[in-house]
Amino acid sequence: MMSLARSTLHVNSAANPPDTPIGRFTALNMFSSYTRFDVIDVMRSAVIVCLFLFLSACQKPAATSITTDMSAADIGEMIFHDVSLSVSGKQSCASCHSPQHAHAQPNALAVQWGGPLLNQPGTRAVPSIRYLADTPPLGFDAEGTPYGGFNHDGSVDTFAAQAERPLLAANEMANLTREAVVEKLRKADYAPRFRQVFGETSLDQVDTAFAMLGLALERYQRDSAEFHPFSSKYDAFLAGKAQLNAAETRGLQLFNNEKKGNCAACHPSATREDGRPPLFTDFTYDALGLPRNTAIPANANPSYVDLGLCKSGRSGRASQDGNCGKFKVPTLRNVATRQVFFHNGQIKNLRDAVAFYVRRDTQPEDWYPRQTGKVIAKFNDLPAKYHVNVNVEEVPYGGKRGDKPALGEQEIDDVIAFLRTLTDQ
Ligand code: HEC
Ligand code: HEC
Repeated sequence: MMSLARSTLHVNSAANPPDTPIGRFTALNMFSSYTRFDVIDVMRSAVIVCLFLFLSACQKPAATSITTDMSAADIGEMIFHDVSLSVSGKQSCASCHSPQHAHAQPNALAVQWGGPLLNQPGTRAVPSIRYLADTPPLGFDAEGTPYGGFNHDGSVDTFAAQAERPLLAANEMANLTREAVVEKLRKADYAPRFRQVFGETSLDQVDTAFAMLGLALERYQRDSAEFHPFSSKYDAFLAGKAQLNAAETRGLQLFNNEKKGNCAACHPSATREDGRPPLFTDFTYDALGLPRNTAIPANANPSYVDLGLCKSGRSGRASQDGNCGKFKVPTLRNVATRQVFFHNGQIKNLRDAVAFYVRRDTQPEDWYPRQTGKVIAKFNDLPAKYHVNVNVEEVPYGGKRGDKPALGEQEIDDVIAFLRTLTDQ
């Protein structure tokens, strides 16, 4: 084994063992020490790169020419779009997080397919990765409500740590080891630029290189305005530069009204305390009791069940039974551009997504199958012992079968008119 000691010391933070609160800060510190480079470094890089390239390539501004304005975020952007980092040679981060689809999946499939032959199914719908930069690490508030962390289940605490799964998962980019990823990275046409930004030896050692790759992706997702344009009609409205029409205004009121939609209780719509625009998520978790999605291949096995936070691999409080069935509140920015909704993609249009909240308890027969003729199999994507975790008290849930739902048909349409104002322009 090559000199592992140094990398173990430095790089463990980017691997970010769950529940290590210092992970994020260590990772960022490490990042800053690798971005400082001076003119001598650049010249040295240039000399070395020239040694390895044909002279002609160094004379004209080819893809490998040296520039001094490359940042870690620029490297991250190249990695994000690089299909050569997948074993199939056909999948990149952007395949599932399409920039043309608000960085979410570009299709209406319940799950995406990956793996060496692109024939291995995923198990969850692809979230939009916009507006994630303020995601706190997983924690619990004074009332014991979980919040924070990345993925639908909060399994990791940083962008850098998050990137490991897609690169290595057998049903995504399918590399067998970190080393396999780094080997591909060394062959990428932007490898010289990677070395220029992260240090001449940054690709030599597997763990260091992998950590830098994670940091580059993190910088890209944090720094690039692509991921947080705040360019929706609602942003213009909050800035006093646009008016909402009558339906949008009614929709906003219903969205905020604690006795009607009460959506803002989990998807805050008001300007934040520090004056920044709202994110439409408070990063908390809730169990919605969604219907099971038979289009997810894993669900063909009746004993397979996606329990969310309690089985996210996080130890301690997160793993308690009371967190089974809970998934993270996503932002509702760009929600009108989605073709599947919620973690299991069972609901296929925005109107049904909103109607589900208000009619889940009053008209359960619209959402769940019937067991043996009569009984409606409510919350059929969760084992019975976890049904107590499903939120049935908070508006807009609740009521008995046959009661009047919290929002009528016209009101649902108004909420949707409002949600459409959250699409980035
Ligand atoms: C095959 C499809 C696929 C590919 C390829 C893929 N992702 Fe994802 N991504 C997903 C899915 C599905 C989730 C949700 C996973 C979960 O909840 O367990 C996700 C979650 C995320 C999240 C967390 C979102 C949140 O709401 O917390 C980030 C960030 C992310 N991906 C970034 C990336 C990056 C960076 C890459 C490339 C290295 C990548 N993804 C490649 C499908 C994909
Ligand atoms: C008690 C908290 C809570 C309230 C109140 C709430 N939501 Fe949600 N919302 C969530 C959670 C948690 C999820 C993700 C659940 C999952 O994937 O299993 C979610 C997901 C969604 C989604 C799917 C987004 C996506 O990207 O797939 C939509 C749409 C949505 N909510 C709209 C609303 C609307 C409209 C209201 C008000 C009528 C509302 N929510 C009220 C917690 C809440």
